[in-house]
Amino acid sequence: MLIAAILLLQASVAVPAGEDPVAPYTQSDHNAGATPFKDDRLWRDFHEEAGVSRIVDDLVSRNQSDPRISDIFKNQDLVRLRRTLKEQFCFILGGGCSYTGRDMRAAHKDMGIQRADMTALVENLQAAMRAEHVSFASQNRLLAKLAPMQREVVER
Ligand code: HEM
Repeated sequence: MLIAAILLLQASVAVPAGEDPVAPYTQSDHNAGATPFKDDRLWRDFHEEAGVSRIVDDLVSRNQSDPRISDIFKNQDLVRLRRTLKEQFCFILGGGCSYTGRDMRAAHKDMGIQRADMTALVENLQAAMRAEHVSFASQNRLLAKLAPMQREVVER
């Protein structure tokens, strides 16, 4: 009985194969890497929570099936990635979310991401925003917030 209880406990705290636990970090909106837009025009243009959720799900699945970068997304915690990406976009777009993820340098450390990988991801994000019918001007306003983060994401 005791052994069964211990085995059950171990199973419930076990890390799924290939997923490293996230090292402890301090939660802060500052980790999102950009300040939010003050008005909610962009948020509405992205069709609020449901729209951002569709865009992030679409982006992650495009990355997974993109031969240029799919290897980087193998064996990653994609549930967490979707959640924190939705929070990050919602925070930046003025949707009023808190961002609970890591800062961009910590999140992408030792992944060997190159500029070409960043280009591929941005193209996939553009396709996901197009599929959600986000206006071109609004797409570019989000991309302008993300562009400076390349410094933290790309390895040199
Ligand atoms: C400005 C560009 C980017 C932004 C805003 C961004 C955003 C994020 C966020 C919010 C997370 C989750 C943080 C957390 O778990 O605490 C994350 C993780 C991740 N990103 Fe990015 N990212 C960017 C570029 C890229 C690129 C270019 C790649 C690869 C092609 C990439 C691959 C990944 C992967 C695989 C993870 C999961 C890491 C893990 O769970 O340990 N990211 N990113």
